[in-house]
Amino acid sequence: MDSSFAQILIIDLGSQYTSVIARELLKLGFKTIVLKPSLVLKYLSEHKPKGIILSGGASSVYDADAPVIPDEIFKVGCPILGICFGMQYLAYMKDKSLVAGSEHNKKEYGPIDIILKESPLFEKLNDHLKVWASHGDIVRDAPRGFRIIASSNNAIEAMEDSINRIYGVQFHPEVAETEDNNLILYNFASLICGCVKDWKSSDVIKEIQNETLNQIGEGQAAIGVSGGVDSTTLACMLAPVMKKNLYAFLIDTGAMRFNEVLEVGKTCKKAGINLHIIGAENEFFKSLSGIADAEEKRRKFKDAYQLIYKKIIKENKITHVLQGTLATDLIESGHLGDAATIKSHHNVGLDFGVKEITPFAKLFKHEVREISRNLGLENEISERKPFPGPGLFVRIVGVPVTPELIEKVRLADHIVTDILKKENFYKDISQIVVALLGSKTVGVQGDSRSYEYPIVVRAVSTTDFMTVKGFEIPSETRKIIISEVTKHGFNRVFFDETPKPPATTELE
Ligand code: XMP
Repeated sequence: MDSSFAQILIIDLGSQYTSVIARELLKLGFKTIVLKPSLVLKYLSEHKPKGIILSGGASSVYDADAPVIPDEIFKVGCPILGICFGMQYLAYMKDKSLVAGSEHNKKEYGPIDIILKESPLFEKLNDHLKVWASHGDIVRDAPRGFRIIASSNNAIEAMEDSINRIYGVQFHPEVAETEDNNLILYNFASLICGCVKDWKSSDVIKEIQNETLNQIGEGQAAIGVSGGVDSTTLACMLAPVMKKNLYAFLIDTGAMRFNEVLEVGKTCKKAGINLHIIGAENEFFKSLSGIADAEEKRRKFKDAYQLIYKKIIKENKITHVLQGTLATDLIESGHLGDAATIKSHHNVGLDFGVKEITPFAKLFKHEVREISRNLGLENEISERKPFPGPGLFVRIVGVPVTPELIEKVRLADHIVTDILKKENFYKDISQIVVALLGSKTVGVQGDSRSYEYPIVVRAVSTTDFMTVKGFEIPSETRKIIISEVTKHGFNRVFFDETPKPPATTELE
């Protein structure tokens, strides 16, 4: 696990804002690594961060399944900043009675006014600040060794142990609604932890371009662009320097979303990539049609994908394959390692018979997104949510795949996504899964009996997809979804908020 370059370790305690902390610190020029508590011990045995941030989280410290952080974080000797749940955790560790559960106090949600005292954390800020709060539990009093450094009418909003350099803020400094112009995160990283600015996307871009050019030499490289942030960013970054030596292609599997192939093509064109669209719908349908079993579909998809990829390699005299694999994928027991044992991912364990290069192997998702923004790629790419390689094939559950069912689920996905965008919830969701359930149910539509498949709408929030939380779509928006989707050949809509575990993000 080579992540020694990260100055700050962010421990993800389940907040929807964890990746925002990483993103904002990156904007300030500081590299971070985001890890789940279960990976922290191993990481600390190999690395010494300059600072540790405990993120917020949806749990109460009193929950039986609340995250537990290894005590080793206190032995590193570096400053620690607990945000929201992170602050409650710090107080709870010192004295359980200091944290009041939400039943004992007024929940705070939204903008609040707080008063600051002098602290290095608040350097260059006025004593009044508007911040964003979102919590149920509160810290009743400062633990021993701590002093209160900010408060609102309702609660203690920040605390400091200046000797051990441990800080807690009850609000969220990482979100734009906290009007500190990112000074709190900056003060923590720079003044308190002594981090130096070490990340500039233009430098990273140049470095990756040069290294990749060196590795490929006079060869011819291929890159499969799916439209996802990693492959598209990598292609956009390399196209201007590799010119004719880069063969960028998109395999149209016939199971992509509404207009997706066209949109990705347009984006690539704007970014100067000559994207070759390989129409392979027939091949994929031939091998997947009539199959209902999830794993069999995935295996057949992977075989067809490998076959087509190999054909491309042969026809274009490709010597190297470029992959957008990220550091997270390579961290032991990271996403791919775990997920692959549950589902056969289409892009894991492929053998192309030529050299593979992974220029993003040291980068994290938030860094690739930042590079993408800096390359001037549209929001559609830089903020792109994941979509499985096997696409809509794995969104037809329990009945054999047919081109007609793919069309149905494609339309439902388009309708739901559009509504969530218009209702302004899309940006808060990590991924939206719209799937067709293969068990027809009876309905009454236009005064007559209907017998149709239901649609499942599953919105999730997560930072790394190893675990996910169901995202509650507000009831007014659900009503719009139900009303619109049932106009298009469905007579029932189910909303699925099951977390992972026990479910997985996708239904298959
Ligand atoms: P699960 O369902 O395992 O999914 O919780 C985690 C994330 O991975 C995506 N996914 C895939 N991505 N090829 C991919 O590129 C695949 O075969 C694949 N299967 C699942 C899924 O959409 C979610 O974002």
